[in-house]
Amino acid sequence: MRVRPMTIAIDGPAASGKSTVGEALAERLDYLYFDTGVMYRAVTWAALERGVRVEDEEAVTKLAEALEIEVTDATDDDGRQYTVLADCVDVTWEIRRPEVDANVSAVSAYGGVRHALVAKQRRIAAGEPVVMVGRDIGTVVLPEADLKIFLDASVEERARRRWLENRERGKDPDRAAVLDAMRRRDRIDSNREISPLRAAVDAVRIDTTAMSIHAVVDEAERLVRERDCP
Ligand code: DC
Repeated sequence: MRVRPMTIAIDGPAASGKSTVGEALAERLDYLYFDTGVMYRAVTWAALERGVRVEDEEAVTKLAEALEIEVTDATDDDGRQYTVLADCVDVTWEIRRPEVDANVSAVSAYGGVRHALVAKQRRIAAGEPVVMVGRDIGTVVLPEADLKIFLDASVEERARRRWLENRERGKDPDRAAVLDAMRRRDRIDSNREISPLRAAVDAVRIDTTAMSIHAVVDEAERLVRERDCP
């Protein structure tokens, strides 16, 4: 008997379309959407805010263990997908700041940080049908996920998307710098020792370089439906 996938893992590099696709797919299926990247970002934000040195693995790990991270439906109509609270402070936009971008790869490479956050992520996924998005969802967080999707796109296309995103937020970033930062993030995320960015062997790969978001969501939904009851 075929059963509808209840746990859907979406992984892939930065700006591969994970968040947009994940959110749209969750909405179509009426599942919870959860972007695990916000947790690593919230810990990074808290470290910067509280003067904890990001090089200090032990201190950052303690912070990750203690920080209350909550993701709720959007509480403001300012373009946000959801609201992120870190110890009750609304950090939804703060965690997108360039300082957080520059430090989050280092923070997310710490074993203790990952251990603390993965436990929180598994608790969230156990509660209800979920589309969970990240780098290691199919490989580490939810290895038993019913459907695993790995989204990818060329680094140039991903940098172009990130550049456009920044422009839409009213910034005017240098294109070459965005491409450089993207390459740097890819290098750190893919080469770190613990849970590097990698497609699970049983993941379905989708190269989104030349696809519209709409087409990717349609394809993801088709993958769910084909595993559904006939
Ligand atoms: O998806 P994002 O750009 O918001 O992720 C922020 C950082 O967190 C990124 O450098 C990779 C890391 N991350 C991770 O290591 N594991 C996850 N499950 C999600 C994000």
